[in-house]
Amino acid sequence: MTVISREKKWWKEAVIYQIYPASFCDSNGDGIGDLPGITSKLDYIARLGVNVIWICPMYDSPQIDMGYDISNYEDVYRPYGTVEDMEVLIRETHARGMRIMLDLVINHTSDQHAWFKESRSSKDNPKRDWYIWRPAKYSPSGERLPPNNWRSNFGGGSAWEWDEATGEYYLHLFATEQPDLNWENEVTRKAIYASAMEFWLDRGVDGFRVDTVNMYSKPDLSDAPIVDPKAPFQPAGLLYCNGPRMHEFLGEMNAILSRYGAITVGELPNTPDMDRVLQYVSAKAKQLDMVFQFDVVDTGFGKTHKYETTPKNYTLPDFKAAVGRTQGLIRGSDGWTTVFLENHDQARSVSRFTDDRPEYRVLGAKMLALMESCLSGTQYVYQGQEIGCVNVPKETYPVENYLDIDSCLFIKMTKDLHGADNKQELDKAFSALQHLARDHSRVPIAWNGKAKYGGFSEAAEKAGLDVKESWMKPHPLAGEINVASQVDDPDSVFAFWRKMLRFRREHADLLVYSDFRDLRPQDMDLFVFVKEDPRGADKAVVILNFTTEEKKVVMPTAEELGLQDVKLVPVMSTHGGKIREGVLSPFEGQVYLAGA
Ligand code: GLC
Ligand code: CA
Repeated sequence: MTVISREKKWWKEAVIYQIYPASFCDSNGDGIGDLPGITSKLDYIARLGVNVIWICPMYDSPQIDMGYDISNYEDVYRPYGTVEDMEVLIRETHARGMRIMLDLVINHTSDQHAWFKESRSSKDNPKRDWYIWRPAKYSPSGERLPPNNWRSNFGGGSAWEWDEATGEYYLHLFATEQPDLNWENEVTRKAIYASAMEFWLDRGVDGFRVDTVNMYSKPDLSDAPIVDPKAPFQPAGLLYCNGPRMHEFLGEMNAILSRYGAITVGELPNTPDMDRVLQYVSAKAKQLDMVFQFDVVDTGFGKTHKYETTPKNYTLPDFKAAVGRTQGLIRGSDGWTTVFLENHDQARSVSRFTDDRPEYRVLGAKMLALMESCLSGTQYVYQGQEIGCVNVPKETYPVENYLDIDSCLFIKMTKDLHGADNKQELDKAFSALQHLARDHSRVPIAWNGKAKYGGFSEAAEKAGLDVKESWMKPHPLAGEINVASQVDDPDSVFAFWRKMLRFRREHADLLVYSDFRDLRPQDMDLFVFVKEDPRGADKAVVILNFTTEEKKVVMPTAEELGLQDVKLVPVMSTHGGKIREGVLSPFEGQVYLAGA
């Protein structure tokens, strides 16, 4: 067995809690979450046992894509607060021994950013070249066409927008209002680093989650292959991601970030090749500390469009293989990996990977908490995951309540393709969204099931302020799934998350740093894996029952574990009490330790 030196770092052992400002906590009763609301909940977050908070974009923005369209990096979206409120949040986070990361969104800006307004004003404006402008193409019959066939990431439209004023197209890989910056221009890059990074590093932030990190270097702009013949524009992610100058650009950023000791996690879509992933996170390469791969969260997505699928369109072996790929990244390498099942772009994991019916959802949430806490890499928890939030139900939360641009454009695409009155196709689209839409993670947090709107604006209500309904309709299950009913209940999902995060810290060598091996990849019902230290005989065996039935399991043998002899000591179960060795209740998770 290769002996590898897996270097220990504070951020490898850290648990990072992700906050979506609009939906976390509203302090002043306007129905929109805000920075003082986040600050008021820092003790709650610290109590869970996390070390770092990551705040999704809180910058000034017209909010076409919920703040991922930034109009000024150096200011805060007013309904969330001010730069001074950020300074308070940074100070108060540090005062509790935690660190704070921001979202770094620098592949594109908002079309309302001063840079883009200048760029689009004339062809000879000094900032024209800060964005990606191209002339039209023309069909043989003289019809004006975009420069290539790339599909934007939202809906089914072109990634190019025609700009009448100067008679050229500009590139937007996401919404029309999110023009892509031209990273080939060195002056532009320097301006990005100063405005988006240094401005906040100088104010004490400890790192960044780097949005769409592999899209800055666009290779040639040739047509994507046709994989969706019914569609006018084609998915082109494999073409525009991981371009030739990526490593140079990240090297430049790293030189600045390392001056501040800042940590980074890059969002890395469209990169199925693990050797390629490793180039971003190898310690030697000095690019990023870690990345989010999409293998696990893409499980069950449609092939032509992520929502062109049906609920639970995958098997357990598919899911396990995806976990195995991201875990495998660190085997024999100097790279690092991450563990996450949720974020603001994903539906709730309990609904996707277990069963969110009332009798199972607490069990499912605890089992996933146990699983994640036993996987290697830096662990991320998304707001609401710690109380076992589930998707909004189809019957009580109509599709009109879904507000995400990605969901709305998918419905539009369905109508364009199949007709606005095609009930069957529209219902199919709704089913997919009810299972996978980004809206589920953006529904405001229910702090108190007994208060107005799930207690999202509880402090304002208590202070006697006028309280508006939250910006997205409250979760219909806020009465059943909320913070107040869980924080002091020892059997709650919240209590179990705390317990698992403590357990992870106590067994960090095995649970955070060691190698993962799937012992029964083909098993359709059970996930049985071992965590093993390549340098020692210590092992942790994890067994998870992904079904609603009681299951018997043949316990791993010494041979399977690569030991002479084995005694497995049960140490943890989602079900508490005495562990029934070899038998798992519905959605039970068990952990055993084995030594030489
Ligand atoms: C990332 C963000 C997502 C956003 C997109 C465009 O994928 O996580 O929320 O829509 O980038 O910035
Ligand atoms: Ca507010």
